[in-house]
Amino acid sequence: MRVLVIGSGGREHALCWAIGASPLLEKLWCAPGNPGIAKVAECVPIGVMDFPSLVAFAQDNRVDLVVPGPEAPLVAGITDAMEAAGIACCGPSMAAAQLEGSKTFTKEIADAAGIPTAKWERFDDAGAAREFVRRRGAPIVVKADGLAAGKGVVVAATEDEALTAIDSIMERRVFGEAGASVVIEECLIGEEVSIFALCDGTSAILLGSAQDHKRVGDGDVGPNTGGMGGYAPVPAFPPEAERAAFDRIIRPALAEMHRRGIPFRGILYGGLMLTADGPKLIEFNARFGDPECQIILSRLRSDLLPALQAACDGELGNFDLRFFETSAVAVVMAARGYPDAPERGGEIKGLDRAAAVADALVFHAGTEADTEGRIRATGGRVLTICATGATLKAARDRAYEAVDRIDWPTGFCRRDIGWRALGR
Ligand code: AMP
Ligand code: GLY
Repeated sequence: MRVLVIGSGGREHALCWAIGASPLLEKLWCAPGNPGIAKVAECVPIGVMDFPSLVAFAQDNRVDLVVPGPEAPLVAGITDAMEAAGIACCGPSMAAAQLEGSKTFTKEIADAAGIPTAKWERFDDAGAAREFVRRRGAPIVVKADGLAAGKGVVVAATEDEALTAIDSIMERRVFGEAGASVVIEECLIGEEVSIFALCDGTSAILLGSAQDHKRVGDGDVGPNTGGMGGYAPVPAFPPEAERAAFDRIIRPALAEMHRRGIPFRGILYGGLMLTADGPKLIEFNARFGDPECQIILSRLRSDLLPALQAACDGELGNFDLRFFETSAVAVVMAARGYPDAPERGGEIKGLDRAAAVADALVFHAGTEADTEGRIRATGGRVLTICATGATLKAARDRAYEAVDRIDWPTGFCRRDIGWRALGR
């Protein structure tokens, strides 16, 4: 098969690494990719939102399957664009990607399908939203309805905080049109986990779950990020609970989408809160998580590529994927200043030495090679160091052993990944 992966992060590096191991693969490209991805795929300098060039590239190179990583092209319709050109694309259509693109849509699907989730209400009018907050009191959660690069959610501990959030989202439009309306929700209390399924429109395969660490600092302090690291399996979410959440949350959503004539294909990501009343849905995403993808794929024993193809063909019903019984830990290394003002340009050394740690994998995200071939940081999250082991502790020790071999003075990472399972 000739395959094109779209994206340039650690998630796409892991996808390319897994697809690259398939005996079915003839040729692998990644657009635009990064220097780490360049070791397993041919990188082509096309941006993830440049649909005409991506489609033309796929046609000219007789690509059999396109695998988009990030949400932005999915929500903007990359799957529709590829399929219109007769090219299989393992992702949801623009209509189905609303599960990530619109919070209201997700809540409507959840309610229609009887999926446990926080009670919610939507407001197009800031005055009505403020009145609702005053009536309900804190804690309460305010969300911009549209895509806001993961930043449009305020978990307000006080009424004032909620009112300020409404002001900045709806009146000052800090997230632009994504803030034309807000969803205001009951605040759920508990531990968070992410669950992942590969879907073909009617059937789904459980890929597993992982726990992310969203705050930038040790001890879960500081601003929210795209994710600073994670691990699997999650002791607070054992296999029976995972299976039950798959049956109560993922499958009903898939059935409801199918019933509405917008079948969901691709990776469905459920962000769950493990509340005292059981797992409840916080949000759906229409793609793999980053760094959760790296964690899940590092434990995958089966060939990923035929599963992705089967998802496109509607043939997952008789499909199975097997995973190693290992634990996996991923540590994200970010540029100093992330998430607010990451430093660019710092040279990164020791990448090969880090990758030489047994059962460790080094995935690139925000890196570039300079004219002398030195690897430099370009942005926020720069590397994901992933390791597997017989126990979570062994996996974590290996991951940090590899991290400590990276020589990058302007980078940093959290040192407490896995603390909910292992202690600090
Ligand atoms: P999101 O950007 O939608 O991933 O949300 C960011 C974070 O906000 C989530 O990971 C949760 O930690 C938190 N969050 C969202 N909705 C709720 C809720 N209803 N109750 C408590 N926390 C929430
Ligand atoms: N790690 C969280 C996300 O990918 O959205």
